[in-house]
Amino acid sequence: MTSPSSAPGDRARAVITGIGSCLPPLVVTNTQVIARGDLDTTDEWITGRTGIHRRRLAGPTISTGDLATAAARAAIDSAGSAVPRPDLLLLATTTPDRPCPATAPEVAHRLGLGTVPAFDLAAVCSGFLYGLVTASALLRSGTCRAPLVVAAEKYSTIVDPFDRDTAPLFGDAAAAVALRLGDADEPGAVLETDWGSDGGGSDLITVAAGGSRLPTTGIDTGTGTGTPGHGDRCFRMRGRQVYAHAVRRMTSSSEAVLATTGWRPEEVRAFIGHQANQRILDAVADRLGVPPRHRLGNIRDVGNTAGASVPLALADAAARHACAPGARTLLTAFGGGLTWASATLLWPDAPVRTAAPEPRPPLHDHQEVSPP
Ligand code: UT7
Repeated sequence: MTSPSSAPGDRARAVITGIGSCLPPLVVTNTQVIARGDLDTTDEWITGRTGIHRRRLAGPTISTGDLATAAARAAIDSAGSAVPRPDLLLLATTTPDRPCPATAPEVAHRLGLGTVPAFDLAAVCSGFLYGLVTASALLRSGTCRAPLVVAAEKYSTIVDPFDRDTAPLFGDAAAAVALRLGDADEPGAVLETDWGSDGGGSDLITVAAGGSRLPTTGIDTGTGTGTPGHGDRCFRMRGRQVYAHAVRRMTSSSEAVLATTGWRPEEVRAFIGHQANQRILDAVADRLGVPPRHRLGNIRDVGNTAGASVPLALADAAARHACAPGARTLLTAFGGGLTWASATLLWPDAPVRTAAPEPRPPLHDHQEVSPP
């Protein structure tokens, strides 16, 4: 569904003014994944089927919130002091620090943003683009002036290390953008968006346990489901079926947003799709007619970082100065739900900042500094 177009003559758009990213330091190559010996897989299979050569893992001491805080602070630094202080924080994640409460308020607190509204957004791998659509609408309605959209994931906490269908695919990361209101012809302007969902495919990508249907608390909810086993607590994906949906939905959503923007696919100078599988990305770009030289991504080095993948690839390409500010850019994503979203924008003119994960301060510090 393409989002409602602006009123005639309304050229106000959300503009990306800052870009930040955070990768955990631990690099795990395909060779290291295979060397464990308990996954019946090969480097040829992983690279040939997905394009992934290595990924970053957060390890036991770094949480999603630690990654998110670092990426968000980097985005604020990237935006510089000329833009307003962030007045809203939206965190896209499938792997919050805790099931309750949301991770976003604590990230905002750690950033020193005071009592700004902050909430988590669950749209799995489409999370960042769902966040961008939401933040753009809130900006254009006047609800906020400087939202931060953060996407952070620690899939290593939900992926089953013994499941060869998923274990080699995912990595941990965070990335963020700072936004303000600006004009449609400025570098960084988010021009048009498209988003949608199909809950009929909700079983294709799941973590079955931990919610109200199959709680992990051991409380008898009357469902008769019993205590969930290890498999139910892990991420499961029916890869082959998801593949087909991903190609179809990212292609049609991209076509929709390009049509609304008035761009032909061959005019796109930067194409960034959700970094789940290089073959999916190439299939979508081929169908659209975006030439290989305009396809940007970093799946080779970071794997599938779920909701963080699109802004992480944007940050990576922007740090390499892969595009000139103002270049016509198409972002598209697909994920569990099923969900998908796309956006057209003008390539940002922001100095990308990268940061190391920020360890969380002890809890008692939080209690002391929070006024009633
Ligand atoms: O991020 C959210 C959205 N996610 C996606 O968009 C991911 C979409 N799906 C995919 O990227 C791909 O489907 C996968 C990478 C998950 C799998 O690639 P595929 O080419 O679709 O493989 P497949 O599932 O059709 O499996 C082909 C074969 C199977 O063996 P048989 O049945 O042909 O004997 C699998 O058992 O490959 C086998 N296989 C593996 N072999 C070696 C599955 N995983 C592995 C593995 N190593 N790690």
